[in-house]
Amino acid sequence: MSEGYSSKPMQATKIGDRIVRVDAVQKARGEAVYVCDMTLPDMQYAYMVRSTIARGRIKAIHVPELPEGYYFISAKDIPAQGKNELWMIAKDWRCFAEDYVLYVGETIGLVVGPDRGVLKRLKAQIRIDYEEQTPAVTIDDGIHCVGGPMFPEKNSNVMCELFCEKGRPMDEVFAEADEVFEETIETPYQEHVHLETNSAIADMEDGKFVFYASAQCPFYIRKSIAGLLDIPYDDIIVRQCTTGGAFGGKEHFPDVLCGALLVAENKIRKPIKMVFDREEDTQFSVKRHPSKCIYKTAVKDGKITGVYGHIYYNCGAYLSSSYVVLQRGVFHGNGVYTFDNTYLKGEGIGTNMFPSCAFRGFGAPQTLFAIETHLDHLAHHLGVDPLEFKMQYLAKKGDETTTNGHIIEEVKLPEMLDVVTRESDYWRKAKEYKPGCGRGIGIALYNHGGAFTGNGEQAIIKAHARLVKTGDRVSIQVGSTEMGQGFKTSLRKICAATLGVSIDRIEYLDPDTSKVVDSGPTAASRSTMIVGRLVERAAQEMKERWSEGDFTTEVEYEHPDGYPWDQATFRGDAYLGYGWGVACVEVEVDKLTNEVKTLGAWSSHEIGKAIDELIVHGQINGGILQSLGYGSMEKLEVKGGRFKQKSMSDYVIPTSMDFPKQFYHIQENPYPWGPYGAKGMGELVFNGASAAYVDAVERALNTRFTSIPIPPEAIEEAMKHVH
Ligand code: MTE
Ligand code: MOS
Repeated sequence: MSEGYSSKPMQATKIGDRIVRVDAVQKARGEAVYVCDMTLPDMQYAYMVRSTIARGRIKAIHVPELPEGYYFISAKDIPAQGKNELWMIAKDWRCFAEDYVLYVGETIGLVVGPDRGVLKRLKAQIRIDYEEQTPAVTIDDGIHCVGGPMFPEKNSNVMCELFCEKGRPMDEVFAEADEVFEETIETPYQEHVHLETNSAIADMEDGKFVFYASAQCPFYIRKSIAGLLDIPYDDIIVRQCTTGGAFGGKEHFPDVLCGALLVAENKIRKPIKMVFDREEDTQFSVKRHPSKCIYKTAVKDGKITGVYGHIYYNCGAYLSSSYVVLQRGVFHGNGVYTFDNTYLKGEGIGTNMFPSCAFRGFGAPQTLFAIETHLDHLAHHLGVDPLEFKMQYLAKKGDETTTNGHIIEEVKLPEMLDVVTRESDYWRKAKEYKPGCGRGIGIALYNHGGAFTGNGEQAIIKAHARLVKTGDRVSIQVGSTEMGQGFKTSLRKICAATLGVSIDRIEYLDPDTSKVVDSGPTAASRSTMIVGRLVERAAQEMKERWSEGDFTTEVEYEHPDGYPWDQATFRGDAYLGYGWGVACVEVEVDKLTNEVKTLGAWSSHEIGKAIDELIVHGQINGGILQSLGYGSMEKLEVKGGRFKQKSMSDYVIPTSMDFPKQFYHIQENPYPWGPYGAKGMGELVFNGASAAYVDAVERALNTRFTSIPIPPEAIEEAMKHVH
């Protein structure tokens, strides 16, 4: 199974070469194997039986008589030595709900058997009697403990919390201010819409449990589910299959499928396949955290003297990755700006909603949208151009960050702004388009801290990478995954360029946990930046010893000295480097129908160094489009703890017809600890276009929005208040 395609076969591949993605041909020909393409002998199928209420007690489960070979698997099937919990960051997420349910869609059981038609009928016949309780659905419900506190011992619904501060106490700063500009900004749920839905197969091989999964983090799955049977990790093998998009939605969520399948497999011992259909995937999977950010900004003599932010994220019923997502949100709460005084508090609120989890940006998009929009509003309030206003506060090398660390690198935002304002003709248009004239241009600045926050890389992940040389071929053995972001191509390119050989001689197979080393999760845009660097180091060593014959090199992550981090107080260098971005959007609004036409989109991103310009371009295009969808049209509403939008016909995402061709610019600024100077960039590109879009629409209509998305009906509502 060769995936090697390059424009210059068998010549040494260079970082600057424009090559065909190594997985492009297979995917285009339909040869790539996804979980749903796999059929094993004697295949059984599984469907989830889920809670239909948001909160309550389970009084009884009535299962019809099951034909021979059909099973209803539930918490009762977890063996005595096992525990009914999945270990994500905490161990709070139950594999099967028992006695009570906490959200609509919570797994109660699986129906398993050979015929899918029969299974669907059996599933429909299962009746569950509940004693319903009032659910807490929104952040406000959670804050006020609607239906009773979720954590009675604390008498609250606060699942996780933290704060960071710098400079002087905010009450002093407020007391001295001419005014304190206060706003509450809200961001919504967002559905990942990975084109391939969640899916997994469980099987047995030589006494071990084997999983085929559509997943970002094969090693996470092992760790998360082993406790259900109380077995060693090595008794579980996870093989990642071609993964048709993830965007964070397959970071921890595959554990929920694989955990339930493990319990079933332990009993049935035949291959069992579970594939969500689109409606299940939309309604019953993790989402981006909704947020509510209260910002209070002190202004004296027209200048900002301090920023206070109280940030709430709706975590849903289980912690999942929320605490880490919230940390990133809080640390990014001052955007790309340096303010002398700040206090940022984050609270993750538990509710009776499907647990929220990772989604491209990992908590940063919410606060970045909020601070950017808030500063735009403050600029309008003061009667100055938003960009001119924001430019006074741009972070620079050496500045103190929100966590009392420092900006370690040169910040190229001024150069990037030059490019974007020139290409978009921002300054002329910003002056010429009068507020409310129907046309507007908006601009947003943003960043994204590279890799895991704080000491995550050195203390928790401790990534490894291994290279195996056989003859003149080299195999890369890491657990990091391709999910559409181009990782396979970038990684093989780094390895080939370092060894000075053609990319065709480098092999990387979708990870199998029994064959590769743990290089940490594919998340936090860390794969190319951290794992790519490990592969570069392993390849450097291999190159020096090339003539020794067949051998293996393995390296471990090393954290550079001199950048301390204290996880107990959240002080220090939360990130060694950031990706930086500028996005500009121009719109025209039809004042009769409130429809928005986007006339242009321009961006510049500082990503250290592009390992592959075509892939970077693809990430920029897709990330900006996804962000524009988040700001403009992606509506995921909730009623009674249920998502109202259930499929791709009512959850609307942008297509290439909705937005124009984008101008993009890549700013290089080599990062000393990344492969060839590269930083992570897969999430950065999501973090700002939504704010630029809202800024543009606000200027076109001379109105203000404090929540997204802003489809025509939201614009109509806002215009009712404009006189
Ligand atoms: N691009 C595509 N096409 N598909 C994806 O699922 N995931 C995003 C981003 N870009 C994603 C994507 C997310 S959430 C992350 S964390 C990064 O890719 C991972 O990039 P990395 O390989 O640098 O870690
Ligand atoms: Mo990305 S949200 O860190 O998987």
